[in-house]
Amino acid sequence: MPARRPSSRRPARPRPAPLTARTADRYRLYLDAVQDPPTEVARLSRLYHRLRRRHARTLREDFCGTAGICCDWARSRAGRTAVGVDIDPEPLAWGTRHNLSGLTDGQRARVRLVRGSVLSSRIARLGRFDVICALNFSYWVFRRREIMLRYFQRCRRALAPGGLLVLDFFGGSEVLTELRERTRNRGFTYVWDQADYDPVSGDWTAHIHFEFRDGTVLRRAFTYHWRLWTIPELHDLLADAGFRRVRVLLEGDAAGGGGDGVFRERRRGQADRSFIAYLAAER
Ligand SMILES: C[S@@+](CC[C@H](N)C(=O)[O-])C[C@H]1O[C@@H](n2cnc3c(N)ncnc32)[C@H](O)[C@@H]1O
Repeated sequence: MPARRPSSRRPARPRPAPLTARTADRYRLYLDAVQDPPTEVARLSRLYHRLRRRHARTLREDFCGTAGICCDWARSRAGRTAVGVDIDPEPLAWGTRHNLSGLTDGQRARVRLVRGSVLSSRIARLGRFDVICALNFSYWVFRRREIMLRYFQRCRRALAPGGLLVLDFFGGSEVLTELRERTRNRGFTYVWDQADYDPVSGDWTAHIHFEFRDGTVLRRAFTYHWRLWTIPELHDLLADAGFRRVRVLLEGDAAGGGGDGVFRERRRGQADRSFIAYLAAER
């Protein structure tokens, strides 16, 4: 194929420089490697519509980080509003600069980002929501039973009638081991590092590293100190918090191994090395 000559009117776009740990943006890498906000929004929308036979309008995204889900929520339907809550101003600022800036003025006016702990009474007064979500397992930052219970109670009170609290979950025998898993992406490798697990307390530490083709590494770009919870523990806590029903949605198996991305409500699961689930708790 002949080399394409740049047109005289439009200057050729410079090729993006290869990624390196010296200049890479850890939030951009995280978004590319881990997140898929349009798929999450479609899942939340479908789930609410299946259970309530109407479209959810209001969303609170807890532990929102860079608020990708808030933005796709506002994009997904006219009139939808989203509130993102995070304790750390840095990802909120990144989300404002890179994610909210991609919205139209009308969409942006329907997204509000709030800095604060999801446990605080100020956050509890932000309004009533059709859906509250806490995704990428962020709520596991609460390691004590009474704190998790308080979080669930506050979420329940902040839900509108018919509202849903949606949590994701991962489990399986591999979660209980220390391991490193590498996934190649465009221009970098994402490394999930389950570094430490204490079976007595359930405390668990994982890091995300990013490796680049030039041999540089962004070590510990993100670190999580969580407790490993089980579905029955969370189910009991949600019931204690007053939720009238908790549904467990498990992912189906893909033909070539791994999950197929389709989550269905199940009353029983099966032993697996690793799996993802969603818990949907009804107010
Ligand atoms: C794993 S990131 C999740 C980002 C995003 N939700 C996602 O789906 O990838 C966890 C986020 O939780 C935030 N966080 C931790 N404790 C919090 C708390 N008590 N209240 C609000 N946000 C908190 C952190 O600042 C961080 O941005």
